[in-house]
Amino acid sequence: MRTTAIILAAGQGTRMKSKLPKVLHKVLGKPMVQWVIDCLIAAGVTDKITVLGHGAEQVATVVAEQTSIVYQTEQLGTGHAVMQGVKALGTENDCVIVICGDTPLLQADTIKSLLAKHNAEKNMVTVLTAQASDPTGYGRIVRNGAQIEAIVEQKDATEDQKNITEINTGTYCFNQAFLLKYLSELNTDNAQNEYYLTDLIKIANQYGLPVGGFQLNDFSESLGVNNRVQLSQAEQILRQRKCQEVMMSGVTLIDPATTYIGADVVIGADTIIYPNVLLDGKTIIGNDNVIGMNCRIVDSKIGDRNDIQSTVIVESTVGSDCKIGPMAYLRPGTELADKVKVGDFVELKKSSVGYGSKIPHLSYIGDATVGENVNVGCGSITCNYDGINKYQTIIKDGAFIGSNTNLVAPVVVEEKAFIGAGSTITKNVPADTLAVVRGELRTKEEWSKHQATKKK
Ligand code: UD1
Ligand code: CA
Repeated sequence: MRTTAIILAAGQGTRMKSKLPKVLHKVLGKPMVQWVIDCLIAAGVTDKITVLGHGAEQVATVVAEQTSIVYQTEQLGTGHAVMQGVKALGTENDCVIVICGDTPLLQADTIKSLLAKHNAEKNMVTVLTAQASDPTGYGRIVRNGAQIEAIVEQKDATEDQKNITEINTGTYCFNQAFLLKYLSELNTDNAQNEYYLTDLIKIANQYGLPVGGFQLNDFSESLGVNNRVQLSQAEQILRQRKCQEVMMSGVTLIDPATTYIGADVVIGADTIIYPNVLLDGKTIIGNDNVIGMNCRIVDSKIGDRNDIQSTVIVESTVGSDCKIGPMAYLRPGTELADKVKVGDFVELKKSSVGYGSKIPHLSYIGDATVGENVNVGCGSITCNYDGINKYQTIIKDGAFIGSNTNLVAPVVVEEKAFIGAGSTITKNVPADTLAVVRGELRTKEEWSKHQATKKK
């Protein structure tokens, strides 16, 4: 059975009150329409067409690689959107899934079950439905016995129909030949003067063609996001889902309620995550790590057995067996080898730090290459910027940088060089030497008495 999906994403999403097209609003760090695309891919639906209208250019940047695109220049309703979508259908299709770009919670298994039922019953259309505790706003499923007779929109419903709690999720399977033949019979004779896709159910029944339904167990899966309250509901559900997934795969979350793990984050077994942690983007975390409270790690790769406390790490790489934080900041382009210590109030940027090196307190290291087993004393910094350009600092293996050293780049500290505390280093330091740049100590005797006489 060859299946193509048409994703409806042309609507403005007026109720979002946003500059951003609705389907680009992110849930768990991923645009809503991308959730829909990923769900279809996971369900094995390879051919996809997206109907774009409002904000088409912006939406296209997200969907163009993975789906074909058609345009609906005027938004005259879901039926009208599908009329545009079918223009891109191949002829060898059997089945067409129609799905909305604003339903990020739908799961691949649901799409598979819907398709299976559709095919088994040889329906012309099969509707994905759900039982809602509050059906307000959704189209209602009107049944005669078990048979679905019609879908009635909220605005067109009679008082009796408004009491129906079974709703249309906005996802359907159509027989392609049926869809192509009967779309033209839709009209705008309704409360919203729109072409309702849902009228195809009534039309199929008029011709005595088989219509089916597949009801979801879990209403929350069908949540359509129309405003920011629903956006936050979707966010909460997907966040819980992701937390459960990582816990089931062997990760300890001390407090899932305050743990944010982005959709694409991967975490190894026996890693323990403390409260108030945010892991996002393409982050990959290995096994046996401790991620302490208040960490934010984005687009970074973390090895195994690290201990990371109250730290921000962005676009960086950390090896294994490192100790980081509290209050460290690894900015983009930081690469730590194994067994590195980066202590409190240390900022690193575009720098690599070799095996076993330590930067324990109060440092800024930018545009630097730090070798193995280097010790950078408290308060030492690289002066990498002269106001116009950035320059490199190279600290080679085994060097010892005394506390409060300023390394004025470009500068090289050779192997096992030793820099005395408080030095400002403006020239390269040869290997194995001691370098000290410091004013001589001067004393004035009996200074305190002198001060005392001045006070009188
Ligand atoms: C629609 C259904 C309703 C269902 C609900 C589920 C119809 C007539 N109604 O109502 O039965 O319960 O979804 O969430 O189909 N779109 C276009 N072009 C248009 C109009 C809409 O692409 O001209 C897209 C929107 O971008 C959106 C989707 O279609 O992704 C649904 O549109 P929306 O206006 O949210 O429909 P609902 O009123 O929610
Ligand atoms: Ca909707």
